[in-house]
Amino acid sequence: KGKRAFIAGVADDNGYGWAIAKALAAAGAEILVGTWVPALNIFETSLRRGKFDESRRLPNGSLMKITKVYPLDAVYDTPEDVPEDVRENKRYAGSSNWTVKEVAESVKNDFGTIDILVHSLANGPEVTKPLMETSRRGYLAAISASSYSYVSLLQHFLPIMNPGGASISLTYIASERSIPGYGGGMSSAKAALESDTRVLAFEAGRKGQIRVNTISAGPLGSRAAKAIGFIEKMIDYSYTNAPLQKELLADEVGNTAAFLVSPLASAITGSVVYVDNGLNTMGLAT
Ligand code: NAI
Repeated sequence: KGKRAFIAGVADDNGYGWAIAKALAAAGAEILVGTWVPALNIFETSLRRGKFDESRRLPNGSLMKITKVYPLDAVYDTPEDVPEDVRENKRYAGSSNWTVKEVAESVKNDFGTIDILVHSLANGPEVTKPLMETSRRGYLAAISASSYSYVSLLQHFLPIMNPGGASISLTYIASERSIPGYGGGMSSAKAALESDTRVLAFEAGRKGQIRVNTISAGPLGSRAAKAIGFIEKMIDYSYTNAPLQKELLADEVGNTAAFLVSPLASAITGSVVYVDNGLNTMGLAT
């Protein structure tokens, strides 16, 4: 029987979430995505108008099918958590049931269960500020959107995940090495995400026979990364200094994700897996 995947954090065809969706679709999985509410309209319109058709093409020539797009804001767990200004915001008022708990309920009502949960989202409103200059509010917002969002997703989706299933998130080496420019508490948020991967692997393993891993990906010029401002520099740095001097393709992260959630990785859980052309192993820039 084919597997069903829910991928949180797809709003265009440039990011890691899209590449992961494609790799899972190519391996035969049914694809559901969670799209950030403010980005929902443009994503659905672009999909409908065929703007993504070229990038939907799978290795066998067919086009990836997204069975359903769910509006999602992973910063809110239940409707009670949503402040009034957000609820009444024009971009939010047009959609409903987009808190994490409600999305899990909707997926359960629509499909019953899933096998694969992917977290490919992050947000740090002060990411361009050095940590030293980051406000408490900005730091906590980065942790909320980029780390707790994963705890919440797994908490709410675990009950509808089939035993033997798996979950992954995306992290970045700024969690363990100082990367000037990756500020606003985003480095802290990734450190939390990686630590949580180990604890959640234990808890979800024991509770639901679910594996939990995270991919530490190299730099990609996604929409989110461009907002940080130094992504081209990071890509050049990697090209110059990594063991493999080649462009890092989003599809290479997608393929690793497909491996990690497949039975081929049945004994791998709680791990940080590097997909970065080997850059993390270098101790001296050349
Ligand atoms: P992206 O822009 O394709 O994905 C980020 C997504 O998060 C967007 O679709 C955005 O709409 C969504 N999002 C933001 N706040 C949200 C919220 N509150 N609720 C729901 N969705 C929300 O960019 P990218 O770079 O592919 O990011 C995916 C993951 O990969 C992130 O965790 C990022 O930190 C990670 N990563 C990215 C690297 C890069 O160089 N691009 C390197 C290493 C990790």
